Amino acid sequence: MTEILVSDKLIHLRNARISYVIGILEGGIPAHLYFGKRVEKLNPASLLRAASLPGDFSFSMQNCALDHTPQEYPAFGLGEMREGALIVRQQDGTRTADLRFVSAEVIDGKPRLAGLPATFGDDCKTLCLKLHDELLALDVTLQYSIFEDCDAIARSVLFENRSEHALHLERCYSLCLDVPESRYDLITLSGAWARERELIRRPLVMGQQGVGSIRGASSLQTSPFLALARPETTEEQGEVIAMALVYSGNFTAQAYVDPNHYTRVMMGINDTDFQWTLESGAAFQTPEAVMVYSNAGLDGMSRQFHRVCADHLVRGRYAHAPRPILLNNWEATYFNFNEEKLLEIARTAARVGVELFVLDDGWFGHRDSDNSSLGDWFVDKRKLPGGLSALAEKVHALGLKFGLWFEPEMISPDSDLYRAHPDWCIHVNGRTSIQGRNQLILDLSRPDVCEYVYHAVADNLAANAIDYVKWDMNRNFSNVGSALLPAERQKELPHRYMLGLYGILERLIHDFPHVLFESCSSGGGRFDMGMLHYMPQTWTSDDTDALCRCRIQYSTSLVFPPFAMGSHVSAVPNHQTGRIAPISTRGNVAMSGCFGYELDLNRLPEEDLLAVEKQITRVKELRQTLLYGDFHRLLSPYEGNDTAWITVSPDKTQAVFMFTRAMALPGTFPPMLRLRGLDEGATYRIMETGETYGGDELMNIGLCVTLPGGDAASVSYTLKAEAKE
Ligand code: GLA
Repeated sequence: MTEILVSDKLIHLRNARISYVIGILEGGIPAHLYFGKRVEKLNPASLLRAASLPGDFSFSMQNCALDHTPQEYPAFGLGEMREGALIVRQQDGTRTADLRFVSAEVIDGKPRLAGLPATFGDDCKTLCLKLHDELLALDVTLQYSIFEDCDAIARSVLFENRSEHALHLERCYSLCLDVPESRYDLITLSGAWARERELIRRPLVMGQQGVGSIRGASSLQTSPFLALARPETTEEQGEVIAMALVYSGNFTAQAYVDPNHYTRVMMGINDTDFQWTLESGAAFQTPEAVMVYSNAGLDGMSRQFHRVCADHLVRGRYAHAPRPILLNNWEATYFNFNEEKLLEIARTAARVGVELFVLDDGWFGHRDSDNSSLGDWFVDKRKLPGGLSALAEKVHALGLKFGLWFEPEMISPDSDLYRAHPDWCIHVNGRTSIQGRNQLILDLSRPDVCEYVYHAVADNLAANAIDYVKWDMNRNFSNVGSALLPAERQKELPHRYMLGLYGILERLIHDFPHVLFESCSSGGGRFDMGMLHYMPQTWTSDDTDALCRCRIQYSTSLVFPPFAMGSHVSAVPNHQTGRIAPISTRGNVAMSGCFGYELDLNRLPEEDLLAVEKQITRVKELRQTLLYGDFHRLLSPYEGNDTAWITVSPDKTQAVFMFTRAMALPGTFPPMLRLRGLDEGATYRIMETGETYGGDELMNIGLCVTLPGGDAASVSYTLKAEAKE
């Protein structure tokens, strides 16, 4: 049962499995006392003693001893020598804050965060911990929502300026967590284009460490996620505290180990290019961060994140629905297509069972390569003489849904839009604008530009029968400046951009509820919980090579469930790596996500096309399990030659198991692997081999896998529980 117990000096948030404890020190400083497994009875004496070391609190205050105190929301300048979560500048230019406890209010459910993506749910309780700085006349409300059905706490902070003067937020993170130890490994996800979210695990060391982005997007290079795992924590067991930001822009996720081996973890908007002028009477809401606790290893951590995504983050008709199997023409044609060529592919797609045909880049303006036309969202009649409506109609007539690519946040210097509005892009007057992929970024901090972007997409959706949108974003910020913002608000641009983008997306999903949106950013460059709130799936990576995808999907699954990951079978030799993997392996890996194809089916050998048809039939039968089952990682491609995972339906009657070996190795025994997540008491039939095994045998002894020969060999088995006698 979820409850928030508020007593004199103690606030205890707990559900059936986790506890989070806050202590109010003498003088009103909110101290962080505990986050972990649920505790039943609590005598705060020793916790409070530890929190206000080395003496009583008034002594500590006079002696800067807050430097040792675990705090809920430490501010710069108050007896605190560590980096804090808040820096606020007042009229006289000084930058200290002193936040003291005012009240602790508990509400059922969870308030919405104005203008921002956030978790939601009725089955949770929220603590509003109100703090106040008397000198600044600043109200600060720390919000903590604890969920009933998952071991997660969502945190955010609201600032309200009650003074007569403007205040300037120079830093206001979403979360600070002081952990009284440093015996942890730090886990982050960092990578590059086509190599997103590599799993990185290293011991915490004294000093500052972590990840962040100042690219204007959560980025290809790193994810707004961080975990502290005990050194002995494995997939299956051990403690983990992890957090992810529900935000898609610049962020920081840092851990600082002080000389006493206390660890301070903070997460929020990166302050390198952030500042917010809070006028008298105005409010500012930080993005939300979701913290989870698991004592069941990394698997347990992922289970919690996946539940948050499935039941408290993703919205709309597709939130729990089967996702259509799609065919995307990008790698099939690139920019070189016309209506007939597209229809040829679509016809074959329809014949083998594909459900959605997606027209990617190149349908608008005069875009024959990536050097023009972004911003001119008008169909190119040279390629599509009948326009989008005729194409959509013909695709629909084949029994397929029709989807379309947009990159609405961008503007090409060679575009009618740029010629009409050169000041609509992000730029710095007097500097040559640096292009990325030959394009500039529209300044979404401007309401007029947001209006244009909304209509660029909405008008096309209203005029044509479009069932799906791939929303791309293919470059990061540089020369950050806005023609509209006054000098003192230029550092607001990156966050205002995100608010502008979220506003557009909110309108679009409201106005076009039938459309399935897929987020993309040069692949997985904006794969975060923020975008997932608007778009239920994200293109995981431009790298479609099956072996690379084993790595990328494996580590992406640390935070994100299969239903969030777009994953397609593409042609061989693979366009990113040149590797030739069998069609079976390409299918087996891709079907652990939102399944599709990214190739010209007409160029496939007949036997591969037959295999495609079988893959599609199988995915249709299993996709509810594949998308929404419990995903367990079994073998890590980061540790060896093999990757394995299994997805088990919630009722444990069905499972799909995948094993891939990167390099064939002669002289090795067939792999034996223990499965997870099954019902120990059930008997499972492996449909592909006809063999039956007890769930207990599969999980405790294991399954010996027979692999075909050759590199990039894989098997995928469907397990079905036999009816119990
Ligand atoms: C990005 C996307 C690709 C494709 C191209 C089109 O790179 O990640 O999937 O849509 O843009 O230009």
